[in-house]
Amino acid sequence: MTEPRRARATEAFFGRRKGKPLRERQAAHLEHLLPSLRLDLAQPAPAELTTLFPQPVKRIRLEIGFGGGEHLVHRAAEDPATGFIGVEPFVNSMAKLLGQIEARELANVRLYDDDATQVLDWLPDASVDHIDLLYPDPWPKRKHWKRRFVSKLNLDRFARILKPGGLFCFASDIDTYVNWTLIHCRDHAAFEWTAEKAADWLTPFAGWPSTRYEAKARREGRSSAYLTFRRV
Ligand SMILES: C[S@@+](CC[C@H](N)C(=O)[O-])C[C@H]1O[C@@H](n2cnc3c(N)ncnc32)[C@H](O)[C@@H]1O
Repeated sequence: MTEPRRARATEAFFGRRKGKPLRERQAAHLEHLLPSLRLDLAQPAPAELTTLFPQPVKRIRLEIGFGGGEHLVHRAAEDPATGFIGVEPFVNSMAKLLGQIEARELANVRLYDDDATQVLDWLPDASVDHIDLLYPDPWPKRKHWKRRFVSKLNLDRFARILKPGGLFCFASDIDTYVNWTLIHCRDHAAFEWTAEKAADWLTPFAGWPSTRYEAKARREGRSSAYLTFRRV
């Protein structure tokens, strides 16, 4: 893993912000399409997040670290009545997603291209129906575990913005991260794990399209856990 850049004084480690050079079309998307879809955190969030979208939506779903965007695009295309907020600081991933949004004419996606904790702190209380954290950076070395996105602080943030009964879905192929998340959510009064039997966390989420990182995990022989927590 490349040495991370710290986004601000005390939080948010992520890897490279930029990879290989962008194609002309991708650069144009970043310049012209992203500004119209990027959340403006300098303004207060609207009391009703549904007003962020040009088409009527009934629910709000947030995906943190969408990477290649396979999951976000799939969900947004199949569920136009939900407004999606996708957050991803990696420029090449954002450019790829913008191409898909344009090609598939998705009108139910808003974006943010920096640290997701900034969006979490911007969103109003009890305003989000569902949070997806899919294959977050694993930080496998014990001395780096504290850099993981799942933390007491970020679960407090999730708890504040999720509606009662809202869901937090987490997927990972890294056993220590799965255990880490189970322990953090068990110790957090706002979350209950919905699993009743092993199949519930061994079976992908309903309608799961898979993701690039999941495909990599399979190629390398690792299986995954799919955890769903309810905001009580
Ligand atoms: C291991 S990748 C997984 C990508 C995708 N979810 C998948 O399953 O293929 C983790 C992603 O989280 C993003 N990320 C890391 N820290 C983040 C943060 N603080 N806010 C938003 N995204 C973050 C990274 O840029 C990276 O794209």
